[in-house]
Amino acid sequence: MKWPEQQPSGRYAYVNGRYLPHGQAAVHIEDRGLQLGDSIYEVFRAEAGHLLDESGHLDRLERSLAALELPMPVTRAALRLILRELIRRNLIRDGIIYLQVTRGAFRRDHPMPEGTAKPSLILTARAGDPAIAAARLADGVKVITLPDERWARRDIKTTQLLPAVLAKTAAKRTGAAEAWLVDAEGFVTEGGSTNAWIVDAGGTLITRPLNRDILPGVTRNVLLAAAKEVGLTVTERKFTVAEALRAREAFLTSASGAAVPVVAIDGQPVGNGHLGLLTLRLQALYAGKSGSGQG
Ligand code: PDD
Repeated sequence: MKWPEQQPSGRYAYVNGRYLPHGQAAVHIEDRGLQLGDSIYEVFRAEAGHLLDESGHLDRLERSLAALELPMPVTRAALRLILRELIRRNLIRDGIIYLQVTRGAFRRDHPMPEGTAKPSLILTARAGDPAIAAARLADGVKVITLPDERWARRDIKTTQLLPAVLAKTAAKRTGAAEAWLVDAEGFVTEGGSTNAWIVDAGGTLITRPLNRDILPGVTRNVLLAAAKEVGLTVTERKFTVAEALRAREAFLTSASGAAVPVVAIDGQPVGNGHLGLLTLRLQALYAGKSGSGQG
């Protein structure tokens, strides 16, 4: 099978117990993940050969599965071995490991199949360039704001990502890397695939509290704890787009980048339009905190 984007040889994926050449890895056409979006996912980052925040990602995986009444497809210990084996086979030092669990392949019908558990476990791995990641942390990104049109359970990491696809496409077409999604009252919920933070004029770190409105970002949790530990002032509260435009600094967090500076919102510079001092400090704090977990 040939994918539109030709994969380099030597790349492996994991599908239901087997490590396969990336181009040959596939699921059934009646997989409920494909047909109904009946699936959840996780994204892990590897840095210098180590998984970052592994326990936090595994905890959230279990939480997403439980929310959809999906069983863990393999034990947590087995999953930790699979993650390592995939990193090893793909010769990855720095990169992203994508994991998805679907309810499996059944004759198409909306209700969950009764009493038949055959979830599919899929993992892929992709090497990343640490120099590009470092440049992003130094130079920052632009964001645009758009209405949040997602469903009401954004705390579950499901693969129903069409609103994020549309919002992030709109962002990309204006030269921005992310869309900040805004609720009906004018408050920023989060980015299409990142959590959103600002720093106010007094130096207080502000990010939206956890509930069903946003994904509980693993990177967000690690950074929040690290910031509190060193005595930074942190407030978990909603903020408006107007507040973000007045902010001294703004940044994004996700497995693909902790504390990525937001240098412009809707074409307006944030602060001095460059990486801010607190964001820089948080990048260093995260680097000191995010070692490989023992999940
Ligand atoms: N996205 N909010 C949303 C909507 C996300 O999709 C993500 C992660 C985050 C940040 O979570 P974490 O810090 O655990 O990565 C917040 C992943 C990276 C993705 O979809 O590729």
